[in-house]
Amino acid sequence: MRTRKGLILAGGTGSRLYPITMGLSKQLMPIYDKPMIYYPLSVLMLAGIREIGIITTPEDQAQFRHLLGDGSQWGLSIAWLVQPRPEGLAQAYLVGEDFLDGAPSAMVLGDNIFFGHGLPELLARAGARDAGGTVFGYRVADPERYGVVAMDGAGRVTGIVEKPDRPPSNYAVTGLYFLDGTAPERARAVTPSARGELEITTLLESYLADGTLNVERMGRGFAWLDTGTHGSLLDAGNFVRTLQSRQGMQTGCPEEIAYDAGWIDRAALRARAEMFAKNAYGTYLAGLLDGS
Ligand code: TTP
Repeated sequence: MRTRKGLILAGGTGSRLYPITMGLSKQLMPIYDKPMIYYPLSVLMLAGIREIGIITTPEDQAQFRHLLGDGSQWGLSIAWLVQPRPEGLAQAYLVGEDFLDGAPSAMVLGDNIFFGHGLPELLARAGARDAGGTVFGYRVADPERYGVVAMDGAGRVTGIVEKPDRPPSNYAVTGLYFLDGTAPERARAVTPSARGELEITTLLESYLADGTLNVERMGRGFAWLDTGTHGSLLDAGNFVRTLQSRQGMQTGCPEEIAYDAGWIDRAALRARAEMFAKNAYGTYLAGLLDGS
């Protein structure tokens, strides 16, 4: 099996967060002590993915590059890709087609935050499937706002319904998709929906029709946070702050993941700790060097 590559879709208009996002990409906004994109980036890293294509709008790319560079500070290789207009989530596979070059992928939305005990194992299960696709279902109180997974008694996906009036389950499809190397080819067959977007649901339906779409359910111990509105953005920041200050551990810390995985050495970690010496993030990184 070819090595899985990552895609982060970090374009969009962020219109629900206007006026803030009129001058700054949503995915660069802070979630407590880190830029939003650190969190989905960390999820790909936890899945063991080191080659990552980041898709931004043409205007925002320079700022993202300034923040993340070529990824070598974390032992990653980052490729920079552009989505000229926000024409839907499935378009990520067209923008990313050359970068993926036939490899299987994990695509994550740049504004999705996941946290939970056992996340690496869940990601590993999805990553081990070399054919077909995997979506992650998360139980929500208000499924009618989301794409919802319909399942049979054995937990197999039988359908995905967008914003259903009568939801077939409480499991929303989250913004993380593990698809095999056929995704770009399938995305090319997707035609724009009534709202003019290449819908990810339509792409997933192509896997469903082949009987190769799997769902991994994120249970009670998981948080999947929304950051798309002013209130949910603040809530996500408060969640991260509460968790981190209670446990004294970081969530969404690329340096820690890279160091644990052996992708960067002590000297590289020390350089990052020194860069942030004036704040708690730097202190945390310095603590990792002491093994605390
Ligand atoms: P949305 O929250 O659906 O859209 P948005 O971010 O533009 O915000 P709003 O609804 O307030 O206008 O997008 C979910 C994520 O996917 C977000 O990280 C942006 C990204 N995205 C793209 O990069 N390109 C796209 O074409 C779309 C539809 C979304």
